[in-house]
Amino acid sequence: MDACKGKKIVAGICGGIAVYKAAYIVSKLVQAGASVRVIMTRAACEFVTPLTFESLSQHRVFTDLFRDDPLAHVELAHTADLFVLMPATYNIIGKLAHGIADDFLTTTVAATRAPLLVIPAMESQMYTNPVFQENKKRLSELGYRFLEPETGHLASGRSGVGRFPSEEKIFKAIEEIFAERSLLKGRRVLVTAGPTREMLDPMRCITNKSSGKMGYALAEQARNLGADSVCLVSGPTLLEPPVGVEFVKVESAAEMHKAVTERFPKFDLILMAAAVADWRPKKAFSHKLKKSDARELTLVLEKTPDILSELGRRKKKNQILVGFAAETEKILEHAREKLRAKNLDLVVANDITAPGAGPEVETNIVTLLYRDGRSRTLPCMTKCEVAREVLREIARLL
Ligand code: CTP
Repeated sequence: MDACKGKKIVAGICGGIAVYKAAYIVSKLVQAGASVRVIMTRAACEFVTPLTFESLSQHRVFTDLFRDDPLAHVELAHTADLFVLMPATYNIIGKLAHGIADDFLTTTVAATRAPLLVIPAMESQMYTNPVFQENKKRLSELGYRFLEPETGHLASGRSGVGRFPSEEKIFKAIEEIFAERSLLKGRRVLVTAGPTREMLDPMRCITNKSSGKMGYALAEQARNLGADSVCLVSGPTLLEPPVGVEFVKVESAAEMHKAVTERFPKFDLILMAAAVADWRPKKAFSHKLKKSDARELTLVLEKTPDILSELGRRKKKNQILVGFAAETEKILEHAREKLRAKNLDLVVANDITAPGAGPEVETNIVTLLYRDGRSRTLPCMTKCEVAREVLREIARLL
């Protein structure tokens, strides 16, 4: 309960029968010392009147984007430490998953960068509906936290999954979110991501299938976990850089080497998630290579600088260096060898051929290998969840 003291919490109240339980949670949050501002959807107001929440939160309730203070949604979005959506309905989750912002609540959620805790409660056939599950998955991948509903008696008189969770579970989830927000406080984090591109001529290059998703997720989560500053050095990807992160765009291994080695001394935690090319054409042609009549073309490749090995040699005692090992065979053996050879504190290894892992999917299955010989394999999770878990582990090392 202490974690809520002095925190600014926005409660987004939606139209489900569990709204009366949400009123109780708002009351408990206020009693725990949080300043709670309530936004109600139109449907929520059909179940209870704003007066209930006004009395419990001791603040006026926002219901109408146009009648209420027109800039209030921006103010709430910027100042909140946490958003709690409860009971999160089929409708609100569908709207958020598709970027619809047509009322006070959805507009405020769209404008915030605060963590979002989503507490769904609904009929089990709605909860298990594949459309709902797709939307939920999409939001989870974007970093929304879902609290799973409980199974038991539902308002309809039936029994199934969809019950609003207990007060204990809700407070535990809120405490975890607040604890995490300061996990990397005082730390500066450097992350690399994406492939590199080694040019052969102005048009052609050697590159790899890395999407950059894992590295971008790490940078975003490091920011969410309260790091003082996060720098993302990225090779070419199709991704949007996370907000609040310094973004350095590079192309080749040589450019990444320069960007990373220059910045390295200023960072406490360095995560090399980039799939840096090991080889580049020895000679890059200034003009486009013509097909000509030749039946074969021999390319001579030379080694690129191994950035991580160099960092491993230069590493100071207070710096944590994390490498990534994308393997296809003898996964743990190869990863352990990288840990040793590059003087790393941790290696995140994965089998890129396993279903649910690899560059083209949204999920990953990784094993963390430590210097002391310990290892921990995480279950299949979204890359965002993997990133959070990896950073939690690192926070323990720090
Ligand atoms: N790495 C690096 N600089 C390179 C190549 C790789 O910093 N020139 C980093 C990657 O970012 C990753 C780790 O080293 O964190 C991967 O180790 P590496 O031994 O290079 O793995 P692979 O590139 O997969 O090489 P191998 O084919 O030997 O397994």
